[in-house]
Amino acid sequence: MSALREWIDRRFPLMEFIEKHITKYPTPKNLNLWWNFGSLAGVFLMVQIITGIWLTMYYKPDTKLAFDSIQHIMRDVNYGWLIRYLHAIGPTGFFFAVYMHMARALYYGSYKSPRELIWWIGLAIYLSLMAQTFMGYLLPWGQMSYWGATVITDLFSAIPFVGSDLVVWLRGDFAVGDPTLGRFFSLHTTLMPIGIIGGLVAMHLTALHRVGSNNPAGIELDKKGPAAIPFAPYYITKDLLFISLILTLYLYVVFFQPDIFLEPINSEPANSLVTPIDIVPEWYFLPFYAILRSIPQKLGGVVAMFAAIFILAFLPYLDRSPVRSSRYRPVKKVLTWLFFLNILILGYLGMQPPGTMLLIGRAATSYYFIYFILLPLIPAFEKVKPLPREEEI
Ligand code: HEM
Repeated sequence: MSALREWIDRRFPLMEFIEKHITKYPTPKNLNLWWNFGSLAGVFLMVQIITGIWLTMYYKPDTKLAFDSIQHIMRDVNYGWLIRYLHAIGPTGFFFAVYMHMARALYYGSYKSPRELIWWIGLAIYLSLMAQTFMGYLLPWGQMSYWGATVITDLFSAIPFVGSDLVVWLRGDFAVGDPTLGRFFSLHTTLMPIGIIGGLVAMHLTALHRVGSNNPAGIELDKKGPAAIPFAPYYITKDLLFISLILTLYLYVVFFQPDIFLEPINSEPANSLVTPIDIVPEWYFLPFYAILRSIPQKLGGVVAMFAAIFILAFLPYLDRSPVRSSRYRPVKKVLTWLFFLNILILGYLGMQPPGTMLLIGRAATSYYFIYFILLPLIPAFEKVKPLPREEEI
């Protein structure tokens, strides 16, 4: 074994890489469960890519064949139902992991210097993930696939002057149809997973390994000091335990409750002449859908929805406190928990029929943005708690 290792090492820096990034990679010893969600997101990315490769072997990207090819996968292909359910329910696990991962960064101030680039690359991953899921949702060519794609592409028609031309350009036709299915299939299976999502994750981790992880105390730790432990075996074991627990839950849903995260109307083939009564997005888009609907003017709604995502990019500059972790920031701590609660409220409102609870929707949308307005003002009056020293964590 060691002869093989030496043979490879003389030709390729494999051991050097493993030592630098795994067995000798210094990590803070106080990382809590919130630091497990990054690896969990990586596992879901792998699950989606592997099951996606298998689905592509049988799926037919043609409006006349797509719906039936999914039925064929579910009924005739050996274990096709398993591969399809794993792939269709995977995004629920993936978005759960990514939202927890982002909430952790928000709470512990991980977006602050010197980790701005990790945060921005993360946001690019998040945007690509949303686009990737949206395009994948069209592929089964069910009723919700068709009408979801119609509604979302139609949002671009709100852009002044170029809007309606842009919608035709995006769809490749006047309505969602064969050209739309073809381009969504191509992007969903090639450029997005490998190039954008895969490439961005590699950049995300490269940036992370340049500066090292933040930690719950939010203080910068010496990589050779008493608070540093190697990633392997400590965090590999912790990550694996956590990943096994979440994968157990995921497999429970896949095997016993696959329908809870799938839309029943999508079991009917797409029909451009029958609009479903309610067109509701998947749970992970609901808060943004609620923001879109809380503004009574189409362009205003679209701008607010995109602003809600892009404002996250300004966090490293909006939050001006020298203290990272909310543990030691009583005001930011309360406002951030309210922000999380507010997102849950927006998600709930996104599920309601249009026109209901409008006032609550507007209040929740306002708080979403008020949070970012308050952030730069907090340090002026917040009394931060004393930070621990490196030896105390
Ligand atoms: C495919 C999706 C993603 C994968 C596989 C991924 C992977 C990881 C991993 C493995 C870590 C180190 C462990 C950890 O801190 O949990 C990490 C750290 C980080 N990620 Fe992600 N990530 C993803 C998406 C995102 C998104 C969407 C954001 C934010 C918009 C983000 C922001 C961060 C930040 C700020 C850190 C540093 C955290 C710290 O050191 O405290 N990531 N990521």
